Amino acid sequence: MNRNDAITIALAKGRLADDTIAILERSGIHCPDLADKSRKLIYLDASGRYRFLFVKPSDVPTYVQHGVADVGVAGKDTLMEAALPLYEMLDLGLGRCRICVCGPQNATGPTVTVAKRRVASKYPHIAHEYFAAKGETIELIKLNGSVEIAPLLGLSDVIVDIVESGRTLQENGLSVLETICACSARVVVNRVSLKTKRQSIQNLIETMRPHVV
Ligand code: PRP
Repeated sequence: MNRNDAITIALAKGRLADDTIAILERSGIHCPDLADKSRKLIYLDASGRYRFLFVKPSDVPTYVQHGVADVGVAGKDTLMEAALPLYEMLDLGLGRCRICVCGPQNATGPTVTVAKRRVASKYPHIAHEYFAAKGETIELIKLNGSVEIAPLLGLSDVIVDIVESGRTLQENGLSVLETICACSARVVVNRVSLKTKRQSIQNLIETMRPHVV
């Protein structure tokens, strides 16, 4: 098979890539040997039909949007934050969690008398969209991790973040105040690839579908 006919799949380095590869293996698609701890970032599968790119999770939508990858696997949170025009084809059921507004149990809601609420988040776009839809203007504080610290130290009033087990919130004395949406890993496809490689991409999706979790 010509290498140009291969479907290029962008995977989010880390746990999500490992779990996606497990689904692909169950689907009969032989993938890079997970035991191979090399720092290679591009692999071709045994049949030559699939090429895998290992990229930073938040970059998966970008690679797919630009057509460098035909297909990508990313969390719904990452996709919502990127807000790019990609086709979402399959819910893999991996990494189930919720995006929530969290804060101290007594965190006040919006009032007309106080300044804008300060919202810290790794997901400024999601936070902005959520509060804008409710008609609330907020002050956004972009953080890159350990967001739960922000309300504890007075950097923000609340946070918008991922809640999986709830343990991080609990151990930091915070609670879920509002749930924005449920998340899990999705297979997304580049719009042009869906036209030019439609049959191969459809086959890939249908091969994976029975093996989602
Ligand atoms: C994520 C998220 C929460 C935590 C939620 O952080 O931002 O902090 O996991 O998981 P839990 O509900 O099971 O406790 P991550 O581990 O990615 O680290 P980070 O905060 O440094 O981004």
